[in-house]
Amino acid sequence: MATKLGDWMDDRTGWRTHHATIFLRKIPKINWSYTLGSATLFTMFIQIVTGILLTLYYVPEPQQAYASVSYITNELPFGWLIRGLHHWGASAMVLLVVLHMVRVIIYGAYKYPREFTWITGVALLLLTFAFGFTGYLLPWDQRAYWATVVGTQIGEVTPVVGDTLRAVMLGGEEISGLTLTRFYGAHVWVLPSLLLLLVGIHIFLVIRNGITSVPKRGE
Ligand code: HEM
Repeated sequence: MATKLGDWMDDRTGWRTHHATIFLRKIPKINWSYTLGSATLFTMFIQIVTGILLTLYYVPEPQQAYASVSYITNELPFGWLIRGLHHWGASAMVLLVVLHMVRVIIYGAYKYPREFTWITGVALLLLTFAFGFTGYLLPWDQRAYWATVVGTQIGEVTPVVGDTLRAVMLGGEEISGLTLTRFYGAHVWVLPSLLLLLVGIHIFLVIRNGITSVPKRGE
């Protein structure tokens, strides 16, 4: 029955070929450091699932943001777990993406024909940092406020576009309700859309070009 259904679908979608291209491709003899990209991908999925669950109770509004986070942490059944996973998952993702990049550098995996994979990777690194920065403000407590003051002041010293960048981030001269709305919008809509698009291109390129083998002495 399952085989018949599989054949029926294959006739119409060619899924077996795609499945083989993605999951049954030949790879060289590698080591554990090659799992860091997949580990980052896994953390990304954890962040998406826990993030979606958090949006069901979080209120992106200055009067209620702190209270809603406090409710999630202290009263909502398993809220502490979902928030904890999202909180520590964010740090894990930053750590893993940096280690993945270090592996790519050490093995020279950025060289031809993988330059564009590297470029999409750099964009993914910046996106991961942007997630951390925008997410930090959302609990709307003292730590969040001052971290954003520091972050936006750093943005302000960017040559040429500094002032505009700070104004766009803050939605005015100072941190306000509009800043919270903007950071929330970026955190749950803009950045995830870009992340999914770029991860799709990144993984496509990894499959298309195959992965590098561990360099040998003298290579
Ligand atoms: C959200 C962030 C990222 C995800 C989910 C991700 C995912 C992956 C995965 C699953 C692989 C294949 C397995 C592996 O080599 O570990 C890979 C390969 C690769 N990634 Fe990433 N990556 C990310 C960020 C980056 C960054 C920051 C860079 C560099 C700036 C980068 C550059 C590369 C390159 C060049 C390859 C090919 C490696 C090879 O052929 O040996 N990636 N990535």
